[in-house]
Amino acid sequence: MRTQVGIVGGGPAGLVLSHLLDRQGIESVVLELRSRDRLESEVRAGVLEQATVDLLNELGVGRRMEREGAVHHGIELRFDRKGHRIPLSDLTAGREIVLYGQHEVVKDLVEARLAAGGPMIFEAAATSMHDLDTTTPRIRFRRGAYLDLEAGGIRFREDAEEEEELTCDFIAGCDGFFGVSRPSIPERLRTEYERTYPYGWFGVLVEAPPSSEELIYTLHERGFALISTRSAEIQRMYFQCDPKDSTDRWSDEQIWEELQARTETIDSTSLNEGPILEKTIVPMRSFVCDPMQHGRLFLAGDAAHIVTPTGAKGMNLAVRDVRNLAEALAAWYETGKTSLLDSYSDVCVRRAWKAQRFSWWMTSMLHRHPDDDGFQYNLQLAELGYVTSSEAAATSLAENYVGQAFEE
Ligand code: PHB
Repeated sequence: MRTQVGIVGGGPAGLVLSHLLDRQGIESVVLELRSRDRLESEVRAGVLEQATVDLLNELGVGRRMEREGAVHHGIELRFDRKGHRIPLSDLTAGREIVLYGQHEVVKDLVEARLAAGGPMIFEAAATSMHDLDTTTPRIRFRRGAYLDLEAGGIRFREDAEEEEELTCDFIAGCDGFFGVSRPSIPERLRTEYERTYPYGWFGVLVEAPPSSEELIYTLHERGFALISTRSAEIQRMYFQCDPKDSTDRWSDEQIWEELQARTETIDSTSLNEGPILEKTIVPMRSFVCDPMQHGRLFLAGDAAHIVTPTGAKGMNLAVRDVRNLAEALAAWYETGKTSLLDSYSDVCVRRAWKAQRFSWWMTSMLHRHPDDDGFQYNLQLAELGYVTSSEAAATSLAENYVGQAFEE
């Protein structure tokens, strides 16, 4: 098999890239490990920056998002049992965010891609990459794969076929943190920066009406909590937990008790409760791989960098990567110029650190630190007091949260 750009991974990065390339008349094949069903049901983040929304609309895949997504103009920071609104749009010349689940974005992208005849191979595991520093890099992959989470790895069905090869002009590694792309860059040529936090997020999906018109990020003696939404019927909520905790240890009553306690205010507002449809524990990790390219392999999204979810940057950062990559590839196919390809990693790594800084700052400000003797907590309350009372400080949060326009 041969294609121009081999895309490993059919998450937001890989899918948006295939659409962007198609628009430039560049052919690609997307290899995705999961089945279509599995891919489209994975609940992840849900905050889209204006720039991401604009790009999805430009690609012609924004119709359902425009209909079902909720436009937000502010967020609430809650501490000391009081809420404080950060008016995002007022502080950023009208920029806004849209709440729309990542898996909904993925559904829309897959549907449009398949309708356009775009080759997408599901249940295909990329197993290795070869000749990355030649003009014909190759991806070895095998169909019939599935993810066995209990065994912690990729398995193949008994009737799975032999390995195949996809020869490309370029490879885009969009296969996430655990994918084969990043380790295909020789270890001595890359530096990985990582921080894991001593806490995680306990996330629930609940069937209930919204408890608030805007997202609530709250710091409480018992820890962080976040009240988010997916629709008029489905809400997404999180609370800080031990990353080694297990969802089975928590009854629905205990979960509600924890969420209610952490979000309680002096006028005793409480959350709307309802059946809990799903529980997951999300680890808190920050990660950057530098460089994000090697020969003709280019990493994008979680394969190259992970940000903590507190800044709501993850998917938006992935989309920014592939926008740069598509532009660089289009320039190469059009003129043979390599300057944009050459600077791809520098541009993306610098942006990743900027997002890293913001996510780290939000995370540190809003979580209880396990060894804290109270000094840290009081600093955090002072920081929150400053952010919610100084327009300069609130503007700094707002412009990072809504994100900037795409830079050229
Ligand atoms: C979510 O809705 O899942 C969500 C919202 C904001 C965040 C993280 C996750 O910062």
